[in-house]
Amino acid sequence: MEPTYYITTPIYYVNDEPHIGHAYTSLASDVLARFKRLDGYDVVFLTGTDEHGLKVAQSAAKAGMETQAFTDKFSQTFRDLSPLLKLSNDDFIRTTEERHVEACQALWNELVKRDEIYLGNYEGWYAVRDEAYYGEDELKDGPNGTKIAPSGAECRWMVEPSYFFRLSAWGDRLLKFYDDHPDFIMPASRRNEVISFVKPGLKDLSVSRTTFDWGVPVPNDPKHVMYVWLDALTNYITGVGYPDTKSASYQKFWPADVHMVGKDITRFHAVYWPAFLMAAGLEPPKRVFAHGWWTNEGQKISKSLGNVIKPADLVETYGLDQTRYFLMRGVAFGNDGDFSRRAMIDSINGHLANGLGNLAQRSLSMINKNCEAKIPQPGAFTESDKSLLEKAQALPAIVRADMGVQAFHKALDHVWDVIGDANRYMDEHAPWALRKTDPARMGTVLYVVAETLRHIVVLTQPFMPDAGARLLDQLAVPMAQRDIASLSPEYSLKPGTTLPLPEGIFPRYEEKPKSPQGTGAHPQNAKRAPML
Ligand code: MSP
Repeated sequence: MEPTYYITTPIYYVNDEPHIGHAYTSLASDVLARFKRLDGYDVVFLTGTDEHGLKVAQSAAKAGMETQAFTDKFSQTFRDLSPLLKLSNDDFIRTTEERHVEACQALWNELVKRDEIYLGNYEGWYAVRDEAYYGEDELKDGPNGTKIAPSGAECRWMVEPSYFFRLSAWGDRLLKFYDDHPDFIMPASRRNEVISFVKPGLKDLSVSRTTFDWGVPVPNDPKHVMYVWLDALTNYITGVGYPDTKSASYQKFWPADVHMVGKDITRFHAVYWPAFLMAAGLEPPKRVFAHGWWTNEGQKISKSLGNVIKPADLVETYGLDQTRYFLMRGVAFGNDGDFSRRAMIDSINGHLANGLGNLAQRSLSMINKNCEAKIPQPGAFTESDKSLLEKAQALPAIVRADMGVQAFHKALDHVWDVIGDANRYMDEHAPWALRKTDPARMGTVLYVVAETLRHIVVLTQPFMPDAGARLLDQLAVPMAQRDIASLSPEYSLKPGTTLPLPEGIFPRYEEKPKSPQGTGAHPQNAKRAPML
């Protein structure tokens, strides 16, 4: 049976439209989902929207809209990210769906049955923006008796009857779980933060609200709705069929392999979520990977600063594959990163046009012009031919290991090392000079480059699905041989195979001198890489 892989993004709040942060989490998840499919796994990739809670209800009221209609509208903007970014999610979940309400209530009933939830009173500093209570010691004084949370959100004193989850009883078991599963929280810096948070002891967690009604009703006590984080986290099991734990999908896919999240929501995923699950007798996920945050030209991204980066603008200005590549390569996954126009353009021109684009373009156009557009028949391989081919053949295992720890930037570094080697090999062996002096040797050199290119392109498909498909078309690689298993000598390029006319895939991005309106460059102004 095929191995399985279940990967999730956070479900996004529907109080605003998607920005680069949402796109980033989703893209990283997509790259991993695509890689795993290519590597023979049966994958479920889930994303969706988080639609309950006071924040969403207030945003709807402010917009003068009925709450469900408001969430319908904004949920759609997140659904639209999939075609825009070519996200290959298998499902899109909304927390207002019946299947999810049912799952939340079933989980709640299980927790009540096991005496993990009790009724009490809650008083504390609550930040609507974060949908979270904070401890007095975490807060700074704000205006008019308010307090300010570490996130910058304003907190108000709230008193309400509330159900509590016995989180205080789970501290030691969580610490043991982290100990037994050293890769549960990645990267290590986040793991250390979580452990320091849990070690001094945990307080019971308020898991219901009575001050508003936009949420999943608590079974048998409809004055209460469930705390939005208990509701939201449950989406990960709803997505595979909970409460039917006997269902084929739950059996196959739970526990999830990776919950991809931003660093700001690590605590919810790495502390509350495994505690809820263990308390309900369910297995915790295998990993929570917390990535860093993007700034824009060195500044924090915020609506008030007016510097929000919209995914659609990135795709329109730079192209989809270019955007996907830059976001995955530009920053070590797990660290914070800065988005700058300069760095994006350098990546397009340096890595894509001059690196991969140049390698493909010059080797394929030489084959087209000098080998009757057919994969040439190689002669005996020299040491330097063998050395390049061996590097290409070693890549799948290296990239697999990088992807296994979500080191997307490293996977690309390793592929680009081989691109650099192949470009140098081409310069050194100068097939254009061999054309007259030793055409047979020219054929061997071009064969070695084309076969190296096949490895490179198969492995870059998850990052750049369009460019990958087009380049594999240009190499005439059959559809059924574009997976990682086909990167074995058995499926190497067959001499004599006719190749289509090559086309440049990665145009250079030419900056237009700034117009008075400061509109900058547009793709229409981008020129194709020169044919060599
Ligand atoms: N609804 C919750 C998640 C519930 S999951 C059970 C939520 N939603 S969110 O819409 O506010 O954020 C979703 C994701 O976007 C988070 O992973 C967050 O880290 C990420 N980002 C938001 N701004 C970001 C940047 N500027 N940079 C990178 N990621 C950022 O939290």
